[in-house]
Amino acid sequence: MSFPKLGILGGGQLGKMLCQAASCWELPIYALDTSIEFPAGPYAKGFQQGSFKDYDDVLGFGRQMDIITIEIEHVNTDALKQLQEEGKTVHPDPAALDIIKDKGLQKTFYKEHNIPTSPFQLFPDKNAVLNAVKSGDLTIPFVQKSRTAGYDGKGVAVIKNQADLTEKLLDGACMIEDLVEMEKEIAVIVAQNERGEISAFDPVEMEFNPIANLVEFLICPSNITEEQAKTCTDLATKVIKAFNICGLLAVELFLDKQGNILVNEVAPRPHNSGHHTIDSAITSQYEQHLRGVLNLPLGSTKMTTPSVMVNLLGAEGYTGKAIYEGLSDCLAIEGVKIHLYGKELTKPFRKMGHATIIADTIEAAKEKARKVQATLIIKTND
Ligand SMILES: Nc1ncnc2c1ncn2[C@@H]1O[C@H](COP(=O)(O)OP(=O)(O)OP(=O)(O)O)[C@@H](O)[C@H]1O
Ligand SMILES: [Mg+2]
Repeated sequence: MSFPKLGILGGGQLGKMLCQAASCWELPIYALDTSIEFPAGPYAKGFQQGSFKDYDDVLGFGRQMDIITIEIEHVNTDALKQLQEEGKTVHPDPAALDIIKDKGLQKTFYKEHNIPTSPFQLFPDKNAVLNAVKSGDLTIPFVQKSRTAGYDGKGVAVIKNQADLTEKLLDGACMIEDLVEMEKEIAVIVAQNERGEISAFDPVEMEFNPIANLVEFLICPSNITEEQAKTCTDLATKVIKAFNICGLLAVELFLDKQGNILVNEVAPRPHNSGHHTIDSAITSQYEQHLRGVLNLPLGSTKMTTPSVMVNLLGAEGYTGKAIYEGLSDCLAIEGVKIHLYGKELTKPFRKMGHATIIADTIEAAKEKARKVQATLIIKTND
């Protein structure tokens, strides 16, 4: 068989790992992003410099491709819709992308499709939120999320008291939801192809770093009951069907203290919570995304070994050209698989790579993961 030309909007680490997966089949991938210095640059067959947010850049790039996909949601969907009209295959569907890009529309979509999610309200700006609190329509505590400006926890404010209300409230159109009493955070990555095959990876459990509000440990298998795992997987399947997405959909879920399982948000692309699949599943999420968007048979999602994934973040206090202290000590630990993204510059909490630690038990993997975190320091020379 001969492969179609596949274009990705975005040239970051997710794009790089898509290129790596594609290289096994000699499948040519082309990427669009502002700098060839980005992680996917050296791995893409072709790299076009331009902005995935710009109509003309996306249109011009897409016209040279057969199939267009993404590694980031914040792309120009008008151009993608035009490409669809011109006969190009675009996965995920830009109509779904428009809903997902806006946390207000996304939550409304769940409500309309009977998908369990925490109760919410939409507000045009900060003042409207303050007025609602004054009038008693809205009560503290709550979580405020920017409708369109959020990424990596940055557009999220948890408002627990009056002081938070004056200090933390975000500007702009927002979605306000109940503060969930969290038992666990789970993610399920599910995939679909055009022939309607659907396949989910095992649920993974996320443990957060409270300071950076970024995932610290990602654990697979997660410590939930079989029944809970089935509910999570069934929900993820329902969501991918509702959006009618081909390729991957990462579904972030909350298990609350009352035992409810709620959908938090989704990402229609490879996701941080699926990095471990490169080293601990028969098919990686990246290969699965390619299978989904190319309408190939989906691969087995079976886990081959327990794993813990840690993001390798830029150390606090260092901004500049990155160096990796302690790398060879980490490579000496059995089961530690290091993936560096090749970002030239580090800054505090920037995702510079990840490590997947495979071991016979989660406990053993966690212990090694802590060693990696204490040993591998991403800093600068000065
Ligand atoms: N309603 C809620 N109640 C309690 N905690 C919440 C709620 N919403 C979000 N959080 C916490 O904030 C984190 C980030 O929220 P969310 O995933 O919606 O934002 P994000 O900016 O898209 O983050 P990311 O890009 O890291 O996924 C969640 O993983 C969770 O820990
Ligand atoms: Mg999230």
